[in-house]
Order: sequence, then C-alpha cells, then structure tokens
Amino acid sequence: MDLIRWKKEYSIGVKKLDNQHKKILKIVNDNMERQFSTQNEREMEEILEDLQNYIKEHFKTEEEYMLKHHYSGYAEQRKEHNQFVDRLFEAQKEYLKYGRVTSINIFNFVWDWFSHHILILDKMLSKID
Ligand SMILES: [Fe+2]
Repeated sequence: MDLIRWKKEYSIGVKKLDNQHKKILKIVNDNMERQFSTQNEREMEEILEDLQNYIKEHFKTEEEYMLKHHYSGYAEQRKEHNQFVDRLFEAQKEYLKYGRVTSINIFNFVWDWFSHHILILDKMLSKID
C-alpha cells in the first residue's frame, strides 16, 4: 500500500525528472514503515545508502538539465540540493547510531523535503525551453 500518493501537481513537465521524482517516492513508500519494524539493520543501511546515491544522481541530472538550458535559478537550486544532501547524511548517521529506535523517520523527512522542493523550485523548470 502506498502511504503517500503522487499528485498531478508534482509533475514539472520534464519526463525524465518526473520519473526520478516518482522513483524517490516509491523508495520512500516501500520503506516508510519498515524503518521501525525491520529486524535487519544492515539491510536498512544498504537501502539508505542506495537512496542517498540515487538522490545524488538525480540532483546531478537535474543540474545538468538546468545548465543545458542556461537556467537562471541554477545557483539557488544547487545550494538547496547540497544542503539537503548534508542533512540527509546527518539523518543517516543518526539512524546508524540509534537504529530503529530513532524518532526520525528518514523516509518521511526525505519526501517532506522533496514535495516542498518540487512544488516551489523544481516547478519553475517547467517554464524553461
Ligand atoms: Fe531540484
């Protein structure tokens, strides 16, 4: 069952980027509850590492798209992306330290950030081209 649904308004009209955002949502949905129920912390560490790598890859794709289109909001986007990667890294460290007893739901945190970021900054990418 999907805990968070993809909404039409999340679409920024760039297929490749929309698909990557959807994949991030899928990873979030697949693991949101598992974070607290898993007995296998090693497995969760790997999922988080994959998620972090995927997000970095996604930011790279998005930033390349902006550069290609000489997008004026590139610096602002890059700054937000970098700050988020740092925060995610901190959250991941906390998870590795406290395991499933941590009160932070990393997956919830990831989508909370993404949904705001998509609706405010990424949405502007639909206007280029
Ligand atoms: Fe972005």
